[in-house]
Amino acid sequence: MKRLEFESDFENRIVAPEYNPLDADNELSLRPQTIEEYIGQSGAKENLKIFIQAARQRGEAMDHVLLYGPPGLGKTTLAGVIANEMGVKIRITSGPAIERPGDLASLLTQLEPNDILFIDEIHRLARTVEEVLYPAMEDFSIDIITGKGMGAAAYHLNLPKFTLIGATTRAGQISSPLRDRFGVQLRLELYTPQELASIILRSAGILGIEISPDGAAAIASRSRGTPRIANRLLRRVRDFAQVLGDGVVERDIAFTALDRLGIDAMGLDNIDRRMLKTIITNYGGGPVGIETLAAAVGEEAVTIEDVYEPYLMQIGYLTRTPRGRCVTRLAYDHLGMTPPEGAAEQPTLFE
Ligand code: ADE
Repeated sequence: MKRLEFESDFENRIVAPEYNPLDADNELSLRPQTIEEYIGQSGAKENLKIFIQAARQRGEAMDHVLLYGPPGLGKTTLAGVIANEMGVKIRITSGPAIERPGDLASLLTQLEPNDILFIDEIHRLARTVEEVLYPAMEDFSIDIITGKGMGAAAYHLNLPKFTLIGATTRAGQISSPLRDRFGVQLRLELYTPQELASIILRSAGILGIEISPDGAAAIASRSRGTPRIANRLLRRVRDFAQVLGDGVVERDIAFTALDRLGIDAMGLDNIDRRMLKTIITNYGGGPVGIETLAAAVGEEAVTIEDVYEPYLMQIGYLTRTPRGRCVTRLAYDHLGMTPPEGAAEQPTLFE
C-alpha cells in the first residue's frame, strides 16, 4: 500500500488548529480580555459568568475548571478572561513542562490567594506529578519529600486557596481521579460561521484591515469552526487583497485567495481531501480502524482523532462506528466521487 507523504505538508498546514509560533502576534493582540468581548461559546460563557460572580461575591477562589474541546478554540484565552474577570493573577504552564513533583510544588507555592494556575495539555502530566496535584486541589496542601534514605525529610505545606484551570483536547484522556476533582467542566464547541465572522471583523478592526461583512463571511465559511484558523486566514487573505486588489478584503478576493491557498468551500485542505480519498480508495469508504488509517496516512492515531476528525465529523463527512471510520455520501459528493453500489446512506453507530 502506498504510504502518503503527510508530514511535510502537516508542518505548514494553514488550517492546522494547533498553535504555531507564527500565530504569536495574532494571538496576543487579538485576545479578548473580558467575557463581553469573548465571542461565541455562549453555553460555557453563561455558566462561567455565574460562577465568577458567585466566587467574587464570596471573596473566594473559583472552583477548579476543566476546559476541553478541539485545539484552537480559545481555551487559554478563556482562562485569561476568567483571571481578568476575577481580578486575580494567572500563571500559565503545560502538562509536559511540569516534569517532577518539585516543579509543581514550586509553581504552587508562588501563588497568592485566589490566583489561577492554568495547565494546558493537562492530560500529559506525569503520574507522579498528578499525585501531588490531588491533595493540592482538594485540601490546598502538599506533602513533599526531599533527600533520600536517612537524609530524607517529609514536609507538609499549606497552600493558598487557588483555582486550577486545566485544558485538554480530550476529557477522555485524563484519569478519572483527576477529572473528578474539577468542580466545573466545560466543553468548548466549534464556532458557527456567524460567530467566526464576528471574530474576523473584530480582529480586522484591531489589525487595521479594511474588510466588508461579505469578506468576513467568506473567510469564516472556510475556517473550520476555529478562531485561530480564521485569524490566520484573515492575514493571508489581506496579502492577496493588497497585492491583487485595492487592499479591501471583499468576498471575491477572499474566495480567490482561499482557492489559491488550496482551501476549498468546506474549509478542507489537501491533507483532509487525501485522508478522505485514502479511506475511499484503499478501504472502500470504510469502516477502517483508526490504527490502520493512521499507518496509511503516516500520522499518529491521536493526531487523527484530535486534529482531523472533529471537523470532518462536525460537517458530516466522517463517522465513527464500532468497526472503524466511514466516509459518508456527503464526502463522496464533495470530492466528486461516486459512492459504491449499496453504500450506506448514512452509516450509524450501530452499523
Ligand atoms: N479571538 C480568538 N478567539 C476569540 C473569541 N472567542 N472572541 C473574540 N475574539 C477572539
